[in-house]
Amino acid sequence: MTTPDSAKKVPHVSVLYHQIIAALRPKSPGLYVDATIGAGGHAQGILETSAPHGKLLGLDVDPRALELSHQRLSLFKDRIHLVHSSYTELQKTLQTLGWDRVDGIVIDLGVSSMQIDTPERGFSFQQDGPLDMRFDPTQSISASDIVNGFSEVELADLIWRYGEERESRRIARVIVQNRPFHSTGELASAISASLRHRPGTINPATRTFQALRIAVNRELEGLETFLPQAVEVLAGGGRLAVISFHSLEDRIVKQFFRRESRDCVCPPGQPVCTCGHKASIIDLTRRPITADPEEIANNVRARSAKLRIVEKK
Ligand SMILES: C[S@@+](CC[C@H](N)C(=O)[O-])C[C@H]1O[C@@H](n2cnc3c(N)ncnc32)[C@H](O)[C@@H]1O
Repeated sequence: MTTPDSAKKVPHVSVLYHQIIAALRPKSPGLYVDATIGAGGHAQGILETSAPHGKLLGLDVDPRALELSHQRLSLFKDRIHLVHSSYTELQKTLQTLGWDRVDGIVIDLGVSSMQIDTPERGFSFQQDGPLDMRFDPTQSISASDIVNGFSEVELADLIWRYGEERESRRIARVIVQNRPFHSTGELASAISASLRHRPGTINPATRTFQALRIAVNRELEGLETFLPQAVEVLAGGGRLAVISFHSLEDRIVKQFFRRESRDCVCPPGQPVCTCGHKASIIDLTRRPITADPEEIANNVRARSAKLRIVEKK
């Protein structure tokens, strides 16, 4: 099934669009959050489905994404609030709006097509640009600080942990021997020159670029901060839908959902429960939802997307 924007010229085609709308079941007058509004595709669907009185808070740390979604969603007028803020600040932002509980939350992690396709943002190893990779351009640390400032051991550790790259030590050595680096192209070429690129496999720089992006934006820490807040602010019966794009994110989501959907989290084999933990959510997706072949054929980004959904008890 195609998404409503796949036929039009939009800067970013939303992944698993129909599945997100089915998961959140938006209603009027519900309150909804899009924690990563991007180009506003999922948000538009939520606003249309929750007409005439449903409201949506849209968050993003990228001012360009907020501009684009503002243009796209302006017809919804006072039903939409767009805020330049991180999803790690979700509870605070909701308090400012006076929204006590919400009926649905979507978070679509990772980088948008308009960020990847803008070389000046430095996310792509296929187009030359500065070593930046910040989602939030007001943040001080960029990829250049890490590439040119971290020790060889720190770089190897980061590329191993966040890139799951087996050649992390070799890549770290090449970086330290050849720096300073000023551009994504220079870095990608140095990595490619040091590793054999077997035909049919991913570009040798792929995992290192993923690792740098995760580190620059503190993505995994951010997700761990966001998830408990999201569950906390959901009203009973409200739903949280998380789309992730790599195994490190999906593992965090899966483990958090598994723990919070159990009444007892004592170590296995303990005869009597001593933890007192009570399930706060029902896990609706023991296996993640993935895109069908038609969506993947229309949008290559959908290939690695995994959707998990929970409902607040
Ligand atoms: C994959 S895009 C979202 C696309 C959106 N769902 C759509 O339908 O157009 C992810 C967005 O998350 C944003 N983002 C990254 N880290 C964030 C954070 N900590 N808080 C809020 N937004 C963030 C990025 O700037 C990017 O615009």
